[in-house]
Amino acid sequence: MKEFILYIVSKVANSKIKRLRDIKDNKLLNELQKRYPKVIFYGDCIIKDNVEIGDDTRIGEYTIIGSNTKIGKGCRILYHVTICKDAIIGDNVFIGPNTSLLNDKYPPSKKSEPPIIEDSAVIGGGVVILPRVRIGKGAHVGAGSVVTKDVPAHITVVGNPAKILMSKSKTTNHNRID
Ligand SMILES: CC(C)(COP(=O)(O)OP(=O)(O)OC[C@H]1O[C@@H](n2cnc3c(N)ncnc32)[C@H](O)[C@@H]1OP(=O)(O)O)[C@@H](O)C(=O)NCCC(=O)NCCS
Repeated sequence: MKEFILYIVSKVANSKIKRLRDIKDNKLLNELQKRYPKVIFYGDCIIKDNVEIGDDTRIGEYTIIGSNTKIGKGCRILYHVTICKDAIIGDNVFIGPNTSLLNDKYPPSKKSEPPIIEDSAVIGGGVVILPRVRIGKGAHVGAGSVVTKDVPAHITVVGNPAKILMSKSKTTNHNRID
């Protein structure tokens, strides 16, 4: 038991040391961490102007966040996610890899009608969320879905166009980034 505890402690310490080394060696990561000291970035990301990100939110590599977007606390946004400008994302939201949030329904136009993602929603990987769409609190969007209409709270939708799969959402573990 003692060995096991020591093993866990050394693993956590090693990963913290590796992270500090990564931040020191990477100029962009370094700047991002200075701008958002309470957010964890897992690699190079592009965060445009006037973006608010809540404490304890984690953001994966190569994610792009458009200007004026608001992201709540405790979110898990994985890698290669594209979030359009002006988007509103609540607390404890999970967004899987390669997902895109779009804000211009009839491009190219100057209109920005971003989606709204409410607290604790879970968006799978490879999802496309169209402009104006609201994803309700605790709703779950299956991988690869194209969401064209609002999703009510605590509902699971899948497919293209996304349709209701079940009238409840399965809870997920928000502790992981990958
Ligand atoms: C939506 C989801 C939660 C449903 O899981 P589930 O409740 O266990 O559902 P099942 O696997 O039993 O599938 C039920 C039905 O929905 C279909 N289905 C499940 N997920 C689907 C999806 N993403 N797109 C389209 N259809 C889907 C299944 O084919 C099955 O159809 P059938 O009844 O005709 O055979 C899950 O499939 C999913 O997409 N999770 C997101 C994974 C992800 O993106 N993770 C990101 C972090 S890596």
